[in-house]
Amino acid sequence: MIRLENVTVRRGQNEVLHHLSAEIPSASITAVVGRSGVGKSTLLGVLNGLIRPVSGQVSVAGMAAMTCPVSLREYRRRTATVFQEHALIDRLPAIDNVLLGLADRRHPLSPLPWSNDMRSQAAVALNEVGLLHRATARADRLSGGERQRVGVARALVRKPSLLLGDEPFASVDPALVGQIGDMLREQVARNGMTVVLVMHQIETALALSDKVIGLVNGEVAYDGPACEFDTEAQERIFSM
Ligand SMILES: Nc1ncnc2c1ncn2[C@@H]1O[C@H](COP(=O)(O)OP(=O)(O)O)[C@@H](O)[C@H]1O
Ligand SMILES: [Mg+2]
Repeated sequence: MIRLENVTVRRGQNEVLHHLSAEIPSASITAVVGRSGVGKSTLLGVLNGLIRPVSGQVSVAGMAAMTCPVSLREYRRRTATVFQEHALIDRLPAIDNVLLGLADRRHPLSPLPWSNDMRSQAAVALNEVGLLHRATARADRLSGGERQRVGVARALVRKPSLLLGDEPFASVDPALVGQIGDMLREQVARNGMTVVLVMHQIETALALSDKVIGLVNGEVAYDGPACEFDTEAQERIFSM
């Protein structure tokens, strides 16, 4: 479980998250929802360790405080982020894009090609997203949905304990969202992976997640099971 306690984040002159407290349960999918500009991406940045709160703390069950460099490094190693589709390198084959997920696991100056072991891990990850047959296709030859699945494979190849996604389905058609969702759910069940997804489409968020955190102006306005997110909660978070 990840616990955010009284987390306050400032970006530039603005305080963007105000004394935010929430819990992210392990081995489940949490959706972060809210209107544009409420602080969803900022919250994800705090969760992947790239944004430091000015006060409050983030703690992970079984790990030392996040302020300690060693635990921060360990936390980052166990975390993977799915970016939007344009984060692929177009001229590289799908499998090489997946291998980039392992870039921090080999020496930065290594002149050697990826090890066979790493290549086979990348093939397994591509297989998990149903794209093994496209392994050698250049990224710019793939469809939008395929590119997004390569992005998911690049995160999965890290065998993360925590998988984060910032609107990872923004350009994926609904049928594929269902497929990727099923696959994530399987990883959650099989490997106990914890997933946090920022989603602007509330229907998708509710269909995919166990828990919903709804933000309004940098504060938690809903924190509860997806199945209890009703029209009243929806109005509170999306109206104005
Ligand atoms: N690098 C930055 N510098 C200053 N303000 C920022 C920066 N990034 C985001 N913000 C502001 O922080 C607020 C929350 O942004 P963000 O977390 O991206 O919201 P969301 O993902 O919900 O759309 C917004 O008001 C935005 O303008
Ligand atoms: Mg955002």
